[in-house]
Amino acid sequence: VSFVDVVASSGSMIVISNRLPFVLQRNKDGQLVRKASAGGLVTAVAPVVINGNGFWVGWPGLHLENPDEPMPESDPDDITPTAGLKSNKVIPVQIDPKVFDSYYNGCCNATFWPLFHSMPDRASFKGEHWKNYVTANKEFAECTLKALRQLPKNAADVPLIWVHDYHLMLAANWIRQFSEDENIPCKLGFFLHIPFPPWDIFRLFPWSDEILQGMLACDMVGFHITDYCLNFVDCCQRNLGCRVDRKNLLVEHGGRSVRVRPLPIGIPFERFVELAEKAPKVISTNQKIVLGVDRLDYTKGLVHRLLAFEKLLEKHPEHLEKVSLLQVAVPSRTDVKEYQELKEEMDQLVGRINGRFTTPNWSPIRYIYGCISQDELAAFYRDSAVGLVTPLRDGMNLVAKEFVACQINIPPGVLIVSPFAGAGETMHEALICNPYEIDDASEVIHRALTMPEDERILRMNYLRRREKLNDVNYWTKSFLSAMGSLQTQEDYDDIG
Ligand code: G6P
Repeated sequence: VSFVDVVASSGSMIVISNRLPFVLQRNKDGQLVRKASAGGLVTAVAPVVINGNGFWVGWPGLHLENPDEPMPESDPDDITPTAGLKSNKVIPVQIDPKVFDSYYNGCCNATFWPLFHSMPDRASFKGEHWKNYVTANKEFAECTLKALRQLPKNAADVPLIWVHDYHLMLAANWIRQFSEDENIPCKLGFFLHIPFPPWDIFRLFPWSDEILQGMLACDMVGFHITDYCLNFVDCCQRNLGCRVDRKNLLVEHGGRSVRVRPLPIGIPFERFVELAEKAPKVISTNQKIVLGVDRLDYTKGLVHRLLAFEKLLEKHPEHLEKVSLLQVAVPSRTDVKEYQELKEEMDQLVGRINGRFTTPNWSPIRYIYGCISQDELAAFYRDSAVGLVTPLRDGMNLVAKEFVACQINIPPGVLIVSPFAGAGETMHEALICNPYEIDDASEVIHRALTMPEDERILRMNYLRRREKLNDVNYWTKSFLSAMGSLQTQEDYDDIG
């Protein structure tokens, strides 16, 4: 059964996420144009929306002075999956810029992001930000209702509303209320792309009950791994006193039984293989490359990683002039103080380590602060000896998966992952490295650099096979299955 057949038969879907699958920009003539996004989520979910004749609700990345200004269609050269998403199927959410700033930079990125990554000392708790989070979620919900009203009424096709991520944990509340009040049935599903923390961390948030109630307004709540599911179930029981079934992952709330499911996300595996096959060589050196690719974010363990690499050079001088760390840090959330401070710290640390070890023909660290193209990225992944994915905490981490997809050279390189990333749970043949223990981390990098070819081949084969099978289309199907939205037995058999 092809992916497209499955999604075509799954009925209408409304996706609601903070960002639309493209951003709006003004060209030099002042006209609105779309800039497509190439993310894996977009690749998997866009066909479901397009084939199911549904809608995508989200923030267009730009404040429109005139909210009635027509949305542009996709560029004729656009070959990304969103090209088929017509402008009348997109609902751009417009929120007052001050409210948006407090919701996005404040509540989402200065509170939920650190808290859910178990870093409460970095979190700020402000009533004003929470108030604006509530307002923004209500706005997203109202836009979703606009979409729901426009869908043709058909008893055989109950629309599926798929809410994404920590930006929108309350939205389902209003959507459910409306659908009950106006007797327009819908099914509601939520997926959290970041970790869900243990109760003792979660309860630090002053309005934690409201968060749980918002998520429980859905029929199904999905997380990457079982640990996050169990944390959520635990919080529902301890905060709200819900009856829960840990074995079957069920929570009773408001007279309904809410399903909780681990749904580990995958990547568009074949697309990365194709990119790696076509991408020209960009690294021209005989030195071995240890590669890191991350948004510049304190959860990614970048400072620890640089220190571990420095330790490696200290303890194993045989790698001097033979190995370089290539670190790509993509600018992110630059309006938030913690991100600005991390940028400073990285600049200093890279300078110090390079100053200490650089010789006329070699520098230990090559540091790119900026965005790179998909082709360049695939070439980096393909031509590196070691992929270093060592976050302090991470919901899943797709870089680990993209790295193995692009490892098409024989013999391949070695993947190192942190046990504190969702990817560390499932990518069993990677080398596991605790990023907090700098000394040991340096030894793991040494082990990867000196691993025999046979072992590298064996490990990489298993890793690639698993990611190819459990790709992002499989993830979307698993979500539809968990929502009871697959229509044929064959589709269900496919999920296993
Ligand atoms: C994480 C979140 C996404 C978010 C992305 C980039 O992966 O789970 O929802 O879109 O980071 O962050 P940004 O704040 O730029 O959207």
